Amino acid sequence: MVFELHHLARRGLKRAVTMARLRRAVVKRVAQFRVHKDRLRSRRLRPKELKVTFKRLARSALRPVGLEDIAVRIWRRVKPAPEHGHVLLIDHMRRRSGEGKSDSAQTCIEIGTTREALAGQCSTEKLAQTCLQIGAHFYTVDMDIDNTTGAKQLLASIAPAFAAVCSKGEDFLADFDGTIDYLYLDAFDVDHGRHSERRKERYREFLGEELTNSACWKMHLDCVKNCMGKFTPGAVVVFDDTSWKDSEWHGKGKHAIPFMLEAGFSVIENTGHSVALARPSAT
Ligand SMILES: C[S@@+](CC[C@H](N)C(=O)[O-])C[C@H]1O[C@@H](n2cnc3c(N)ncnc32)[C@H](O)[C@@H]1O
Repeated sequence: MVFELHHLARRGLKRAVTMARLRRAVVKRVAQFRVHKDRLRSRRLRPKELKVTFKRLARSALRPVGLEDIAVRIWRRVKPAPEHGHVLLIDHMRRRSGEGKSDSAQTCIEIGTTREALAGQCSTEKLAQTCLQIGAHFYTVDMDIDNTTGAKQLLASIAPAFAAVCSKGEDFLADFDGTIDYLYLDAFDVDHGRHSERRKERYREFLGEELTNSACWKMHLDCVKNCMGKFTPGAVVVFDDTSWKDSEWHGKGKHAIPFMLEAGFSVIENTGHSVALARPSAT
């Protein structure tokens, strides 16, 4: 673990850290670390406990040289993270295209473009690659021009006909004049209390709103209300950051999912953090 952090720090933060100090600290702590590791193994800890303990040890190795913050930041970036809701949608896109259920080119829309390259996310690239493979059109929409600019560059290298649009997702869906086969809703953030000031400021700047849960719920509800008549039979809609607990929906789909169920959609998959719904196929 310490070697891994050392390696990553060296690659990613070359200019920010003093490599000599880091190397000395790591070398000094490695022997100690090995002893800890052996002791931990002999105590037969479960993999999760081992991971937590290794993480603590890695931090303590870097704390004396003032590099703990860097270690934590690196850890957050590299720790294996589960893939977000886009994998649900990709799975259904592949299955449906394999079944040859559509004669014409399909359309996939993502509301909430990739903002940062975080582990388990990067949905814009993954959805665009899938659309390219199955011959679908792809649109990604975000309120923040920086995210749209990044996506335009990305899409130019994947398929220049794919579009990155800077707009409120709910407005884009209201104005969209085609039909929708796949919709990925991962936009207005849930307020989990850990958003950076920069993120909150982007909401004020581009939407004139505070980052609150009620605004998040309303935005996702408005998205589905604004395009309800545009879904093709069998269309799939995925909400990220949504779960079912204590007999109600939580997160981005809190109000939107009950509305969709009322409109005849059904839940086809629920991973515990993302939910897929489908419009019934024409019979
Ligand atoms: C969680 S991020 C999306 C992450 C992305 N799906 C990924 O996996 O890489 C949420 C995004 O939604 C955008 N957003 C928030 N409110 C929005 C709105 N009303 N319309 C469009 N985009 C919005 C934010 O700017 C942010 O980029």
